[in-house]
Amino acid sequence: MRPTPLRRWVICWAWTCRADGGCVCWWRTAADARCLPSLAVIQEVLLVTDRQAALVTGGATRVGRFFALHLARRGYDIALHYHHSAAAAGETAATIRHQGRDCETFACDFRTGDVEGLIERVIARFPALALLVNSASTYAPGDIRETAREQLETQFGVNLFAPFLLTRAFGRRVDAGEIINIVDNKIAFEQHAYAAYLLAKKSLAELTRMAAIELAPAIRVNAIAPGVILPAAQRTSDYLAWRYAGIPLARQGEVEELGQALDYLLDNRFATGQVLFVDGGESVNRVGRHSENYPGRS
Ligand SMILES: NC(=O)c1ccc[n+]([C@@H]2O[C@H](COP(=O)([O-])OP(=O)(O)OC[C@H]3O[C@@H](n4cnc5c(N)ncnc54)[C@H](OP(=O)(O)O)[C@@H]3O)[C@@H](O)[C@H]2O)c1
Repeated sequence: MRPTPLRRWVICWAWTCRADGGCVCWWRTAADARCLPSLAVIQEVLLVTDRQAALVTGGATRVGRFFALHLARRGYDIALHYHHSAAAAGETAATIRHQGRDCETFACDFRTGDVEGLIERVIARFPALALLVNSASTYAPGDIRETAREQLETQFGVNLFAPFLLTRAFGRRVDAGEIINIVDNKIAFEQHAYAAYLLAKKSLAELTRMAAIELAPAIRVNAIAPGVILPAAQRTSDYLAWRYAGIPLARQGEVEELGQALDYLLDNRFATGQVLFVDGGESVNRVGRHSENYPGRS
């Protein structure tokens, strides 16, 4: 994680103020031996203040859960957003705390709830918020003729409006940091019967580029476009085998490979506005295999 020497200094100074009961500057403290904090205390303060926090949306289960655990291993404290999965969120939070990182869960329905208020709630709990991972998503089939207005609103509400509003609030409230949007490799396929979902995800990829320019240089904004990583539980093995046959690397991806993409985008400080596909080349191949054009039972 990036060193933050200025923040370290300021918080050490503030600690000295609190510990002494008065507003004593660091150099004055040094002149008064009684006011000097022990080396152990200084080290503890340095460790705590070096910790940045990440908000992971949809972080209770599946891919979002993996991102939250991965970021905790990288040293972030975690603000874990969830919608319905309260029990899973609690379990994930307990695992993160067990790893030695702070974690708090935050409920919010991105269709009807106070999305921007989520950033305020997170910052109240984690003032060092420095990373937003927009992973929450909803996924419903339907071509243009079939798509009802309500479905359009839900798909856009969760997959685009919520990341937009979170980006806006993050951009206003965070001085320096990163945003990672999780899109989908199927944004590269044109013939796909998930019209509302895909249009929202394509727009999220555009938002990534737009926000990268608007929020630079303080905030870098990138996206990851996963391929088949964790298929929906109901997918049949025949369908998955057919799907893998359309992937140049001929296999399913692993969540750890998404973690490597996340690490790259966080570590490479000259990368912004990028959409990194992690899909075994499926998007380059443009075979476009999916449940709607599978000849059997998907
Ligand atoms: N899995 C894959 O192989 C794959 C492939 C391509 C792209 N992706 C993308 O990667 C990301 C994570 O994938 P995933 O499969 O783990 O996603 P997922 O299981 O479909 O959904 C992630 C989370 O989104 C939250 N969510 C749904 N509706 C919500 C709402 N109205 N308000 C707030 N949160 C809501 C849910 O939280 P609760 O459970 O708490 O309700 C859910 O756990 C998604 O953006 C997805 O599009 C995944």
